[in-house]
Amino acid sequence: MKTIIEPFRIKSVEPIRMTSREERKLLMRAAHYNPFLLHSDDVMIDFLTDSGTSAMSAAQWAGIMRGDESYAGSPSFGRFEAAVRELMPFEHIIPTHQGRAAEKILFSIVGGKGKIIPNNAHFDTTRANVEYSGATALDLLIVEGRNPSSLHPFKGNMDVQKLRTLLEAEHQSVPLVMLTLTNNSGGGQPVSMENIKAVKALCQEFGKPLFFDSCRFAENAYFIKLREPDYQHHSVKSIVREMFSYADGMTMSAKKDALVNIGGWLALNNADWAQQARNLLIITEGFPTYGGLAGRDLEAIAVGLSEIVEEDYLQYRIRSTQYLGEALLKLGIPIVQPVGGHAVYIDAKAFLPHIPALQYPAQALVVAMYEIGGIRACEIGSVMFGRQTDGSEKAAAMELVRLAIPRRVYTQSHIDYVIECFETIVAEKDQLRGMKIVEEPPTLRHFTAKFDWV
Ligand code: F0G
Repeated sequence: MKTIIEPFRIKSVEPIRMTSREERKLLMRAAHYNPFLLHSDDVMIDFLTDSGTSAMSAAQWAGIMRGDESYAGSPSFGRFEAAVRELMPFEHIIPTHQGRAAEKILFSIVGGKGKIIPNNAHFDTTRANVEYSGATALDLLIVEGRNPSSLHPFKGNMDVQKLRTLLEAEHQSVPLVMLTLTNNSGGGQPVSMENIKAVKALCQEFGKPLFFDSCRFAENAYFIKLREPDYQHHSVKSIVREMFSYADGMTMSAKKDALVNIGGWLALNNADWAQQARNLLIITEGFPTYGGLAGRDLEAIAVGLSEIVEEDYLQYRIRSTQYLGEALLKLGIPIVQPVGGHAVYIDAKAFLPHIPALQYPAQALVVAMYEIGGIRACEIGSVMFGRQTDGSEKAAAMELVRLAIPRRVYTQSHIDYVIECFETIVAEKDQLRGMKIVEEPPTLRHFTAKFDWV
């Protein structure tokens, strides 16, 4: 069969409020042309993020009911710990309320002034936590990872030669090496097993622990199965286990590949660091058997982890993201290729060449997507990265719009509707004007800035 159906049926639904283009124009104007300032019930298709937006299964909701809310020693923690260890065999598993809380704890222990944390590409919160500790966050992505049209199958790979040069020069300053699976900042691109092994070998040579930022580990494992010949006949679960066998620790946002709306953890083998982490956890998150979560959240994660490695799910997940990407390409819309796991990234600089970078072409496209189709997405370009610490403004390397797809939420007809909206966007794109910022906060301006047309 050619059609890959959603491998689930729907038991509980959330209505979508239908709006007209005229109504959406007014709503967008009232939100100062910033999608973060829209009310989500005015959005028809929400591609703002794949984080915390998954639909939970009946089994997860049943787990929620079973959650034990004891302060200490809850059996829900036991089930959570066993489910994590089934895939990721770490000694110490420490629950947190989301990924950035795990990062904060980790870098409070290993970061600090003078330290350097290399990664294939740090996600914003990871970079922010590294820098907040006083350390330097370094991206050592392969060059193909920065070229939107390169078809390299593993554009999330780390440049092993650059890592060697760093470790030779700065051996004392590097407390650990990180790999982000998949690389969100660069288009949801995977890291190959070969690259993981090469990075691990280098870490061993220099006596450095290897940590994974593991938010989308299952999508990464499925790409290894699809694209790395040696792994075609391996189960995703065994690929996941092999990936993590090369790691000494991990941070996790369960809001992605654990199919829940909140949660995360820090896991590691180093007993000394684990002790320090638990001490910090008690101050900031909670007792080590619940972290920042309720017992019921731990149950939902435990079930989610068994569902995320199901291959029917992953085939549907990766294929449906590709389906959207391929349809946009057919309409002549330039996207980051190959299509990543959790999102399609449109190259707005190439799509709207008449809008200069500092008139925010990706923001203009985000506004058009909402007005034309009620679709919400996120700018990843000069609005997000353009403001420099000295107050000046510089165009970002890329002007992207991310269409992040929530897990198990939308059906193929929702996606077909999105594709139809893009036909209109293509027809009208030459009339689209640039934008200007009329008000902005001193930092992280994309969340709250106010815009107008040029
Ligand atoms: N690492 C990566 C690669 C991420 O994508 C995120 C979150 C985090 C860490 C932090 O996790 O949100 O649970 O604290 N990414 C979301 C996104 C916000 O929209 O891409 P968190």
